[in-house]
Amino acid sequence: KRKIILDCDPGHDDAIAIILAAARPELEILGITTVSGNAEIEKTTNNALKVCDLVSLKDVVVSKGASEPLIRVRETAPGIHGDSGLDGPELPDPSRSWSDEHGSDTIIRLVKESNEPVTILPTGPLTNVALALTKAPEIKNNIEEIVLMGGGTFGNWTPTAEFNIWADPEAAKKVFDSGVPIAVMGLDITHQALATKEVIEQVNKIDNNVARIVGELLVFFASTYKEMFDFDGAPVHDVLTVAYCVAPELFKMKDVNITVETKGEFTAGTTLVDLHGVTGREVNAKFGLELDVEGFWKLMIDALKKY
Ligand code: BDR
Ligand code: CA
Repeated sequence: KRKIILDCDPGHDDAIAIILAAARPELEILGITTVSGNAEIEKTTNNALKVCDLVSLKDVVVSKGASEPLIRVRETAPGIHGDSGLDGPELPDPSRSWSDEHGSDTIIRLVKESNEPVTILPTGPLTNVALALTKAPEIKNNIEEIVLMGGGTFGNWTPTAEFNIWADPEAAKKVFDSGVPIAVMGLDITHQALATKEVIEQVNKIDNNVARIVGELLVFFASTYKEMFDFDGAPVHDVLTVAYCVAPELFKMKDVNITVETKGEFTAGTTLVDLHGVTGREVNAKFGLELDVEGFWKLMIDALKKY
């Protein structure tokens, strides 16, 4: 089994990423850590706990992580995810509370304790991961890969920056400069995974509670994406990190160098994806170019049927 840590800010697509991960037998979820991003930290943490209840992840530790970016002022995304961070479906209050340990310390502990290398899947701002790598750089030796959602060759929060990277560029830079193997699901590939009307219809045909909730999440997410970006269907960005861990053959990736702009007057949080090797800088990431869209949705639908 591949051992994973989900570091997230649920978030509709983060929630669906947890749901996919919990359904896949080849993954072992060591822990879930949360970060402020789509909503404030208490909200994203409560949302993670609610999703754990939904899919019966009773024994997986859920730790509340960073409430603020490393140095910048926090900004959230209620226009996309609603005020709660997970608007749409009615989910019962969580049956348990979060752990006392800070999310970044949970990452450090779980990586150190694991007898096999761990894969970290960050699907929010990279604050917790940057903190963990700074406090305990020795954990790098036991990290198999960081498979993250963030960045791309264009933006969604500014003309050039994607939300997760933009929300904490200094943290993102630390992660990209860390030397740990990184796979990147940026907007170039996540915008191929659109939950269209047809997809939602397929989800709604599945007769179980988890699929019903996922259907409601997708309907809400699609409505804000229509409003903000005039998209027909919401891109389920974060879910691709989990899908990549279980079915890498669905992904066409390219070895590139990626740097993060932290200073630009207009471009802070931009990822510079050197697709053509013009900088001569060393490769530090695999970058997602193309998704087998049909294969991806089949994986998702099959997982939902198991609930
Ligand atoms: C990213 O930002 C959030 O809105 C989503 O959860 C995803 O992680 C997309 O830019
Ligand atoms: Ca997210």
